[in-house]
Amino acid sequence: IPGNTWMLFRLCVCDLLVAQCDTNCCCDPDCSAEDFSLFTTCSIPVVMGDSQLCSQKAAVYSLDVEANPPERIFKIIDQVNPSIFCIHATNYEQALYFKSPEIPTAENFDELLDKFGGATFSAEPDSWNLDTDAQNPPEYGVPVQTEDAFLRLPSPVVSSWCSDANPAGFLVNQATKCIRSVSVEKCDSIQALSMLFYINSSILSVFQVNITVQSIVVQSVNGMRTLLSSSEALRLPMVLDGLCINAVLGVNYHITHTDTGEIIEAAAAFVLGAISREALSIEQSFEISFTQENTQPVPLSGNPGYVVGLPVRAGFQPQGYPSPAAFLSNKHSQLTILHSTSTQDCLAAQGARAPVLFGYNMISGCKLRITAAMTCQPLAQTLLDVLKGQSFPEFVASFGNSQAQDVLDWVPITQLHISEQSSCQIPVSLGIEIKWTKYGSLVNPQARIVNVTATITSSTLKQLPSGRERIIPVTSSVVFTDISSPAEPSYKAWPTINIKLPFDFFYPFV
Ligand SMILES: *[C@@H]1O[C@H](CO)[C@@H](O)[C@H](O)[C@H]1NC(C)=O
Ligand SMILES: *[C@@H]1O[C@H](CO)[C@@H](O)[C@H](O)[C@H]1NC(C)=O
Ligand SMILES: *[C@@H]1O[C@H](CO)[C@@H](O)[C@H](O)[C@H]1NC(C)=O
Repeated sequence: IPGNTWMLFRLCVCDLLVAQCDTNCCCDPDCSAEDFSLFTTCSIPVVMGDSQLCSQKAAVYSLDVEANPPERIFKIIDQVNPSIFCIHATNYEQALYFKSPEIPTAENFDELLDKFGGATFSAEPDSWNLDTDAQNPPEYGVPVQTEDAFLRLPSPVVSSWCSDANPAGFLVNQATKCIRSVSVEKCDSIQALSMLFYINSSILSVFQVNITVQSIVVQSVNGMRTLLSSSEALRLPMVLDGLCINAVLGVNYHITHTDTGEIIEAAAAFVLGAISREALSIEQSFEISFTQENTQPVPLSGNPGYVVGLPVRAGFQPQGYPSPAAFLSNKHSQLTILHSTSTQDCLAAQGARAPVLFGYNMISGCKLRITAAMTCQPLAQTLLDVLKGQSFPEFVASFGNSQAQDVLDWVPITQLHISEQSSCQIPVSLGIEIKWTKYGSLVNPQARIVNVTATITSSTLKQLPSGRERIIPVTSSVVFTDISSPAEPSYKAWPTINIKLPFDFFYPFV
């Protein structure tokens, strides 16, 4: 085995049985040529270390089913990470190894006692628990791997010309536009104009996933678009009547993954068009979106910053999810308040909610008829439900396009309670304050939510004499406050790059 690639065998995640060959596990060192001849596929086609490294060795496995008997093919390749942000060398050694705990002896006992004898020392420090790294889903932003390299999302990198070196990052929804130079005569030999270029290499996830053609829309020279009825057929670019037809003008990838991060489906929707002889270049547009299976895509409320009038997005952290966690969103993924109704009856208003819209200060309310027969506790709970709704979210998205996986993009809602001292308190108002700032360049500032507080105010319910009743108002309100500080002139002297790195980009570095 060349070089230090022996360690790749330790990363063979399908090798589950000790000293036995696991079916279709092509990296399992326990399998013999005889075993391989019975395999139908390689369940793990590529084995490599940390995908954030700039370059590393990767082991690639496949089956030659044509051979007699069928055999396993094994190659070591140099895997190059095309991202401009990659780890050149891991220089934080402690992060790579588990230290063996020191065995106490007569000589080192006092020293160990000094170190670990404090009140906070527990018998089983967290670091002794072996990590289950191998089962961790691929992380946000990690390039989506294909048979030949990475799924490309052509984009204007240094100029407006398309660069094919831009990898699509896992879970990163993106849209790009760039310019391609063309010549009608050579139209059929320009790879980037051919549908094949965008789908010929299948995606490597837990299993190999082919990219299917979802739809083809053909655009005529005058801009009219027609959806082709049969989408299966590949249409390759060719010269016809002095035009280059079937040239790719746009590709829209749609990737479906499971909750553990396994890619299970990849589809591409194409826009093809004709290029006239005079054209020296065309603009192509590309898009990629990721959807978790069995979930509805959550509409954005701005990209990246919030747009005034669109719903404020909200969600929860699922119970028992390890950190960093994905934030599941509530049913509508929105922050909502009580919806005023014409009857204004609080008990009838239960369940009617209105979305909080970015930038709109809102007040809503209802009236509660209190009779002597009402008891404190159930009434207090009912009113809390009226004010907060069935499931009040714990987090609000700081950007209109915040991704569920991007933990730092979610602002916790601070919940405050104002009440008097008395035996019976009922909630009578909910006040939500949303503080936001302008973020990014001065030319095109983006609205970003930085702090949300939800304050419940309660007041004392006095026991009424029997037969009497009283009507009290219950209100909820939302106030948006811009807390942007005036731009500091000193920024102007520095070139700035407006990008957001994945929150865990520098992991395992401190
Ligand atoms: C896909 O097409 C590109 C460009 O034509 C080529 O470089 C690559 O090797 C192809 N990949 C496969 C798996 O055929
Ligand atoms: C993927 O495409 C290849 C080549 O066209 C084909 O042989 C294979 O059966 C396909 N795999 C799946 C799962 O559809
Ligand atoms: C938001 O502001 C409130 C009141 O100023 C503060 O108590 C809370 O910690 C802040 N929340 C965050 C996430 O900064």
